[in-house]
Amino acid sequence: MGWQRCYPGGFLVWVVLLCELIQPVNYMPISGFLFDLDGVIVDTAVFHYQAWRRMANEVGFDISHEFNETLKGVSRMDSINLILAHGNVSLTENRKLALAAQKNEWYLELVSHMTPDDILPGVTGFFHQLNQAGIKCALGSVSKNAGLILKRIGMLDDFDAIIDGNKITNGKPDPEVFLKGAAELGLEPVQCVVFEDAVAGIEAAKRGGMFAVGIGSPDVLTQADLAIPSLEHLTVTELLTAIDRAQGIGY
Ligand code: BG6
Ligand code: MG
Repeated sequence: MGWQRCYPGGFLVWVVLLCELIQPVNYMPISGFLFDLDGVIVDTAVFHYQAWRRMANEVGFDISHEFNETLKGVSRMDSINLILAHGNVSLTENRKLALAAQKNEWYLELVSHMTPDDILPGVTGFFHQLNQAGIKCALGSVSKNAGLILKRIGMLDDFDAIIDGNKITNGKPDPEVFLKGAAELGLEPVQCVVFEDAVAGIEAAKRGGMFAVGIGSPDVLTQADLAIPSLEHLTVTELLTAIDRAQGIGY
């Protein structure tokens, strides 16, 4: 009786008001997840590596697994330039275009047998959870083959927006692909979480002002806000709580 007289409107209303007050004024809740494709949804990263390696061998040198880390998330033509510079090989623009087309043919051969069984562990369950939580999602991939891969694995209809290599001018680490994804979802960057396996992709997310979840080793994805081996044991609720806590909003 006593507290009701002192706190008109009921105790609970005051608790809610207090919580609102201790949030930063411009607090915008996380409402969108942006997913890279290669290495996050499917393990096509290994096929890109195999095809690039074959191309480098053709030109007369080899590329290592470590060097391949620098290619992840990087567009086709940027990759070829990095690879040729790595092998100290200089070619005409036309020859580079021909090699890029050849690499893509090898890559398409490698992915031609993919099925929904190739979706990485944890992805399907995680998408189920984010749908239930009312979180929107977009694809943010610089691959021009992204639509084809999504079709093969049966996930073309699982995204509210798809931004791929055909819709952007600048590849990662430029944030364009993620900024376009957020815009298509109707969200501010600060409301979005990016899931990425590439160093260039994590940099793109951070330059875009987003929370970056690295899928892979924390020793490689050093700029990530959080690094996990896969989506397999991640729950949406725990992730959102961890982000709130990291941003000092937890109460
Ligand atoms: C990225 C991959 O998703 O797409 C890169 O991580 C790849 O390895 C890039 O080079 C471009 O892909 P595509 O399919 O357009 O050649
Ligand atoms: Mg990737």
